[in-house]
Amino acid sequence: MKRAAATIMKVTSAEFIKSAFEETDWPGDRKPEIAFLGRSNVGKSSFINSLLGVRGLARTSSTPGRTQSVNFFLINGKFRFVDLPGYGYARAPREVKAKWSAAATDYLAKRDQLVLSIHIVDSRHEPTKQDLQLHEWLEHHQKPHTIVATKSDKLSSNELRRNIELAKRAFKNERIVVYSAVSGRGHDDAWNAIQAALKHAKDS
Ligand code: GTP
Ligand code: MG
Repeated sequence: MKRAAATIMKVTSAEFIKSAFEETDWPGDRKPEIAFLGRSNVGKSSFINSLLGVRGLARTSSTPGRTQSVNFFLINGKFRFVDLPGYGYARAPREVKAKWSAAATDYLAKRDQLVLSIHIVDSRHEPTKQDLQLHEWLEHHQKPHTIVATKSDKLSSNELRRNIELAKRAFKNERIVVYSAVSGRGHDDAWNAIQAALKHAKDS
């Protein structure tokens, strides 16, 4: 069957709203939210910037653990992107680690208007134990989610094919969007998933 080409959303405005460390700091209105989650340094902030076509809106860094709070961005005045702290940065002091996961898991567990969680993994590596745990948690709690394998520009097409197959198997046949913040590969697929989630939330 031929798929009708969907129109990709035009981003007319994207602004940083706030960094929240606690629930009381989350925006109080009911706008739908898309969350970005994954291992520390996997490329969450770069993914957000490349989706929006802006540089430096979400802060990126080669130092793992850059994003430590829950960061809210308002898109087109209508919905929000939420950049969550990364997990699994082994060298973080224990209490910092605990704070990170509390901020992210609190948000995931409690936020009513969360319409989609975009789980970002590294296409170069097999999913980590924590990647699989997060995926199980999202499934178990029936949180709408999609997997994105980023940094695909760093692999040859053979390596990429092999790794995506392995990841698919590890994630129990979940569909995986292959992405690169450098080349823009996967941009339309990622936006399609976001638009579908926003539409679904509006219709239900
Ligand atoms: P934390 O907030 O620290 O958890 O990191 P993050 O997941 O937000 O990662 P970030 O976007 O800061 O990216 C980490 C590093 O990976 C940076 O040096 C980016 O330039 C690089 N990077 C991210 N995405 C890509 C990609 O698609 N391709 C390549 N080649 N590099 C990428
Ligand atoms: Mg970040």
